[in-house]
Amino acid sequence: MLPGDGIGPEVTTAAVRILQKVGGADLPLQFEMAVVGGAAIDTTGVPLPATVLKGAKKADAVLLGAVGGPKWDSLPHQGRPEQALLGLRFGLGLFANLRPAHVFDSLVQASTLKEEVVRGTDILVVRELTGGIYFGTPRGIRRRAGKRVGFNTEIYSVPEMMRIAKVAFEAARRRRKKVVSVDKANILESSMLWRETVSRVARRYPDIELVHMYVDNCAMQLVRNPLQFDVILTTNMFGDILSDEAAMLTGSIGMLPSASLGSGKNSLGLPRGMYEPVHGTAPDIAGKGLANPLAAILSSALLLRYSLGADDLASRVEEAVQVVLQEGGRTSDIGGGGVKRFSTSEMTEAVLERL
Ligand code: IPM
Ligand code: MG
Repeated sequence: MLPGDGIGPEVTTAAVRILQKVGGADLPLQFEMAVVGGAAIDTTGVPLPATVLKGAKKADAVLLGAVGGPKWDSLPHQGRPEQALLGLRFGLGLFANLRPAHVFDSLVQASTLKEEVVRGTDILVVRELTGGIYFGTPRGIRRRAGKRVGFNTEIYSVPEMMRIAKVAFEAARRRRKKVVSVDKANILESSMLWRETVSRVARRYPDIELVHMYVDNCAMQLVRNPLQFDVILTTNMFGDILSDEAAMLTGSIGMLPSASLGSGKNSLGLPRGMYEPVHGTAPDIAGKGLANPLAAILSSALLLRYSLGADDLASRVEEAVQVVLQEGGRTSDIGGGGVKRFSTSEMTEAVLERL
C-alpha cells in the first residue's frame, strides 16, 4: 500500500476496504503501508526510500494512490515525487501498463462528448512503461554554444518493442481482436523501427487485425470515433498522453484504473504488478472527502484479477461499481442533475453495500 500524496490516501483507503470485504475469510489479505512521493520527501528526504522499493519487490502486489503536488514542484528533477513512480516502475520491471477506458452506459452523459459518439466505448491502452523518452539517455539541461539547452532521448530496442507488442496482441485476443499501434513513423526513426517490429510480431497473430496510426491522427480519431478502437499499443510518452485523452471519453479521469505488469512473478506464481488510478493527486480537493474512489477501487479489482488470480472477486467488484452507478450514485466529478451526490466515503459505502 503506497498511498502517496493529495487524494492518494483517501482513495487507497477506500480500495483497501473493498479488498478486505471482498476477500473476506477466503482470501485474507495482509497490507503493509509505506510512504512514497512527496510524503516520503517530507519524512525521509527522498521520493522512493530504498526500503520501500525492497518492500514492494517482496509484496505480491502493490496498490498505489498518486504522487506529487505544488509543494514539491520546484524541486530539481531527481528529487521530485514523480521519481517514486518511475523508480517503482523501473525497479519492479513493470514494462506493460494497461489502462482500460470503458464508458459505463449509466455515465454516458458525464462525458464531454456527445452521447452517440461515446456510448459503448471500450478501449484498452497498452502503454510501454520502462523505456522510451522517459528513461532514454543522454538527457539533461546543459550549455551549448552559449545557450542553455534541454534534451531527452527517445530510444527503444527491438526486444523492448517486441515484448510490449506481445502484451497488446495477447490482450486483443481476449477482446475484440484489433490492435491499433500508434507511432510517429513519418518523422522519428524510433517509430519507424517500432512500426517494423510491431508488424513482425503481428505475423504470429494472424487472428488479430493490426492498424498503424500516427499519434496526431490517433488523438483526433479518439474524439471523432472512439468506437473504432479496441487495443491501442504505444510508447511510454504517447501512451501517457493518449491515456488521459481516452480517460476523458469516459466522463472523468476519476474512473480509470491501471495495472502495470512485468515478467516478475509473485509468491503465487502470478505477475507481481502495481495497480494505480490513472488520475493524479488532485491537490485542489485533497482532504475534502470529494475524491472519486472508483479508479482506486477498480484498480483493486485489477489487482485481484492479475496478481491474485481471483477473477471472480474482481468481477464482483466491477459489477458492484456498475450497480452503484446505475442507481445514480455520483461523486462530484461525474455528477449531473438529480442524482445522489456522494462523498468519497459515501461512494465507498455504496460499493461495499452492493458487494
Ligand atoms: C501517469 C502520470 C505519470 C507519467 C507522471 C506522474 C510521472 O502522468 O502515470 O500517466 O507520466 O507516467
Ligand atoms: Mg499521465
